[in-house]
Amino acid sequence: MSTKKFAAVAAGLTLAMGLAACGGEGAGSDPDTDGGSEGGEAVEGGTIGVSMPTQTSERWIADGNAVQAGLEGAGYDVDLQFANDDIPTQSQQIDQMITQGVDLLIVAAIDGTALTGQLDAAATAGIPVIAYDRLINDSENVDFYVTFDNFEVGVQQATSMLVGLGVLNEDGSEGDAEGPFNVELFAGSPDDNNATFFWDGAMSVLEPYMEDGTLEVPSGQTDFEQAAILRWQQETAQRRMEDLLTSAYSGGDTELHGVLSPYDGLSRGIITALQGTGGYPATIEEGLPVVTGQDAEIASVKLIADGTQFATIFKDTRKLADQAVISAESFLAGDEPEANDTESYDNGVKIVPSYLLESDIVYESNIQELLVDSGYWTEEQVESGQA
Ligand code: GAL
Repeated sequence: MSTKKFAAVAAGLTLAMGLAACGGEGAGSDPDTDGGSEGGEAVEGGTIGVSMPTQTSERWIADGNAVQAGLEGAGYDVDLQFANDDIPTQSQQIDQMITQGVDLLIVAAIDGTALTGQLDAAATAGIPVIAYDRLINDSENVDFYVTFDNFEVGVQQATSMLVGLGVLNEDGSEGDAEGPFNVELFAGSPDDNNATFFWDGAMSVLEPYMEDGTLEVPSGQTDFEQAAILRWQQETAQRRMEDLLTSAYSGGDTELHGVLSPYDGLSRGIITALQGTGGYPATIEEGLPVVTGQDAEIASVKLIADGTQFATIFKDTRKLADQAVISAESFLAGDEPEANDTESYDNGVKIVPSYLLESDIVYESNIQELLVDSGYWTEEQVESGQA
């Protein structure tokens, strides 16, 4: 079905346009891969289907827009769809993209195991598939994976909680605090492959402290299944936190000191529960437990600046979008994209060649450096908490 396409412009120009479209210098250095075709002359553009999970979280809107801008800058048409976190909607949208004859698919799956049929159809039609941020499982037809080092994200989340408790310092050295500290643990959506990577990374850091008594989990809920929040829903996290407060902390003699949260949306639900049902004060300085996060969502960045949420993990989605564009161009030029990891991501059928990006811990002290100076958020946005 799909004809072979050539990259519309030289790779260097494409990368420059992609970066310009994404609007900033970006924190740190840009990916130095160059998977695009060298000086390939434009024969014809193509259409790329981009399937994103939801618009309820600002990161996926930003991801969708950045991927679209990068691809359009490189001369492709883009069919960008969001699926409202509804699995049948995402399946239908991808089915339709295949029927309409897109030349390549970029997919951030809602449920990593629900797209086998779509991927089979894509393979039959000769359409390469790039998994975006979230791995697609149980299919041999995932051609490439662009993401962050998800295990390391979990390590950073746990580390940030220990820093908040004073067990570690921001530079990673031992802090003065010895505990014991009471903590509760949250995990992401069990159908999202990333959730177990975040959890495993976090537990690799926390387990020794749980074993030597520095950390205690008064609820006893230390299994992934107990901690997981389906579809990453803020309200579900708030409800679970309220239940934990009622069952393990009522009576007033058990104080909670920290909460491991793997995503800013969950963190805000957890903080609402802590300040409501839990009766905890507004800021960490006044005694609010330390809550971690992920994604540097603007509402949470403001909470960090206000001393309410302790930390988040910054994954520069502009870089991820750039990497997706570079990888797409490689496929469309008839090449294989350059991977920097060919071991970590086994989707149950094969190990998917991956390009992993790095993430950073955001504390109040480095909001300016990581998020404002890099152009990810403006000072005004941090102050207002609105994008
Ligand atoms: C994960 C993603 C996180 C966060 C979460 C909730 O798959 O890696 O960055 O966005 O979904 O949307």
